[in-house]
Amino acid sequence: MQDTDPRWSDVDDYIVEHLIGEDPAQDACLAANLAAGLPSIDVSIAQGRMLELLARSIRAQNILEIGTLGGFSAICLARGLAADGQLVTLELEPSYAEVARQNIQNAGQGDKVEILVGAAIGSLETLLDQGGRPFDLVFVDADKENYAAYLDYAIQLARPGAMLIFDNVVRKGGVIDPDSDDPKVPGTRSLYEALKNHPNVDATAIQTVGSKKWDGFLMAVVREG
Ligand code: DHB
Ligand code: MG
Repeated sequence: MQDTDPRWSDVDDYIVEHLIGEDPAQDACLAANLAAGLPSIDVSIAQGRMLELLARSIRAQNILEIGTLGGFSAICLARGLAADGQLVTLELEPSYAEVARQNIQNAGQGDKVEILVGAAIGSLETLLDQGGRPFDLVFVDADKENYAAYLDYAIQLARPGAMLIFDNVVRKGGVIDPDSDDPKVPGTRSLYEALKNHPNVDATAIQTVGSKKWDGFLMAVVREG
């Protein structure tokens, strides 16, 4: 079965040309990431804009991101924050975090963004110990093996009604294969298992194609009351 089509990227280009336009700060971010040897696994430009608009539409004051990489999606999310909002983003690799810090600064978002360096579980524990923050939006785009654990932390740290978004939940369709040779599939499937009949969270997942090939986002909302 064909699992990529060059038209998917062409359509992404069309979307960017008409709906988003030039973005020198993000171009610089991607160039800096490439120069520093970071993997090119950021969300696409169109997906990043979706994150920005979601944040703006819920008037997000506090956003948590798990998996900073070079800061591309953090810049998108920070742009969507309310005027006095804050983004906390978690990154395992100190060298990636340093590249991200510069990119975020260069994009004019430095004042809104705090990067916590180290294994995400440790940082999440710290956030919980601090009494949590009432996160309005949590974006998870990190090691897939821990997706179910990240869901647990996100639910504890998010306010009722908060939105949770997980990247890469389709994996070229691999998610439905319990015997997949993609090592990231079992962790992704654990997320779905955890959300099956979940008492406090309503969820869906949307498959996507584009410059990131065939993948998808899982979106969940923590129930109120
Ligand atoms: C991978 C990770 C991502 O977050 C992504 O969007 C695409 C690929 C990966 O680890 O291969
Ligand atoms: Mg991703």
